[in-house]
Amino acid sequence: MQIGGVPRIRLANLPTPLEEMPRLTEALGGPRLFVKRDDLTGLGWGGNKIRKLEFVMADAKRKGADTVITFGGVQSNCAREISAAARRLGMKPVLFLLGKEPEEYTGNLLLDKIFGAEIHFFEIPPGVQTGGIDLEMAMKMMEQIAAGRVSELESEGRRCYIIPAGACTPIGCVGYVNAVLELVQQANDRGIKIDYIVHATGSGGTQAGMVLGVKALNAGIEVVGVDIGGEFKNMESFIAKMANETAKVLGLGVSVKKEEVTILRGYVGEGYAIPTEECIEAIKLVAEKEGLTLDPVYTGKAMAALIDQVREGAFSKEENVVFLHTGGEPAVFAYPRFF
Ligand SMILES: Cc1ncc(COP(=O)(O)O)c(C=O)c1O
Repeated sequence: MQIGGVPRIRLANLPTPLEEMPRLTEALGGPRLFVKRDDLTGLGWGGNKIRKLEFVMADAKRKGADTVITFGGVQSNCAREISAAARRLGMKPVLFLLGKEPEEYTGNLLLDKIFGAEIHFFEIPPGVQTGGIDLEMAMKMMEQIAAGRVSELESEGRRCYIIPAGACTPIGCVGYVNAVLELVQQANDRGIKIDYIVHATGSGGTQAGMVLGVKALNAGIEVVGVDIGGEFKNMESFIAKMANETAKVLGLGVSVKKEEVTILRGYVGEGYAIPTEECIEAIKLVAEKEGLTLDPVYTGKAMAALIDQVREGAFSKEENVVFLHTGGEPAVFAYPRFF
């Protein structure tokens, strides 16, 4: 499906499957649970970013770029997905990863290396307060960190294209408007009315695209993003703004208010990428009931939130809840001691 005439390069295996989770539904005794398998988008071990990158990489190519630069944590899924997409399109991936270089490369970082990405590790400069900054401020800071290398690459004749952390741009969010069209079509074909979509929210781009898609289709679905400890403030406003900018890219006459953005907080634990006990339990439960792997940074925490909400009676038995599996499985290899 081509949407809104936005340039797109096919990178993902779509549609991703919509599967029922009958054993998990029975174990929890709650609503009917489904999983939308965006971990199976395919390229470079898949995940949600591949949908965004179909549009972001098309924009990079259109602008003549041959090098893409991005930022993330040492175990960033997005950096790994961008590395794979860049290689698929004959481009050079350059990564700036927040943290110290580990002695051993594992999980996503190992995959980055195998994709031949140029990897730089960086620390937040002393004195810079990260608590309470918003995503746009974080991006400015990261661009400053990369500036020296970008000008070197450009003086060597390379054309650089910077992709924000999480590939969170209005063009990228088009991928998740598209995902809603795909999901609603699948549900209609099977005679299912989806009531909720629950997923991990990080940079907010996935949620922005879905909130917009649901509103544009008047689909009557509540999109529930689970905060996994991204340290950005004003996420509801940021997501609404991103959704509205995406609407402009698509020429859609709908707008999203921050009050229409639902974020569940309280499942982060000690912080981003630090697994909670409930997250590890959720990963084990879903693996044992459905043969499905989640990750300890994003989807495990989102599933822990969903399980808790079911136990708290937030849904009725008649409702249909789709868990969006956003990928991230390679990260499990970086957390063996938790299992
Ligand atoms: C596995 C996984 N799930 C969810 C997210 C959050 O997606 P978004 O950044 O679009 O909010 C990410 C990326 O940060 C991710 O890697």
